[in-house]
Amino acid sequence: MENKKIIVANLKMNLSKKEIEEYVEQIQTIQTKRVVFCPSALYIPYFLGYDYEVGIQQISEYSQGAYTGQVSSSQAASLGLVLTLVGHSECRKYFHETEEQIHKKIVQALHHKLNVMLCVGETKEQRDMLKTDSVIRKQVLGALKGLSSEELNHVYIAYEPVWAIGTNEIPSNRDIEETIKFIKHIVKSKLSFSDIPVLYGGSINSKNIKTLNKIENCSGFLVGGSSLKVKELCKIIEVAVKE
Ligand code: PGA
Repeated sequence: MENKKIIVANLKMNLSKKEIEEYVEQIQTIQTKRVVFCPSALYIPYFLGYDYEVGIQQISEYSQGAYTGQVSSSQAASLGLVLTLVGHSECRKYFHETEEQIHKKIVQALHHKLNVMLCVGETKEQRDMLKTDSVIRKQVLGALKGLSSEELNHVYIAYEPVWAIGTNEIPSNRDIEETIKFIKHIVKSKLSFSDIPVLYGGSINSKNIKTLNKIENCSGFLVGGSSLKVKELCKIIEVAVKE
């Protein structure tokens, strides 16, 4: 994947078979390698063989074997997928994903040459208690500890404040810029790696993308709800990738 602004469409656990077929039909007009679609694992084959990239929402911390319901990094990589999301707040919250599991998933993914999109972000309570920086420091270092620069070359970080996901509430550009700066600083000072790409995610839509696109040092956007409607997603791509 090129290290330019990218859009990752996180379709989450949405759309029926019929809707996915229509969706894939409609996105064939999108011709840029800077959009990565992450559908439900079951639907990934529908997305392969076109001009955009495909990723997976979740991978196992184990390499293979008797782990019912799981998908391994090597399986994902063998289909030609380019990345996996790791540490999404919904996985941390609903599936009680731990820092240790997140780290192991990242190690697995990198071992099998999948790029990693590590999601980090604070809850509303943590923000109100002025703990954003300490929460993010812990999430970033817990996930990326011990990785070499060669490995970190394949890691992206998505800053997704938990309170901004699916709520239509977003931080100011200034706040996002500050946090992106902080994440880059942590990675540089603690992991000796300069310039890790940091994206923003949370309630992005075609109306706010023009403003969000002005954020300094932002390497792209992780789009959830708005990626479910192709027209809406295309408008976001138009601004973020082509502007
Ligand atoms: P949202 O989700 O765009 O619906 O807020 C973003 C995400 O969870 O990645």
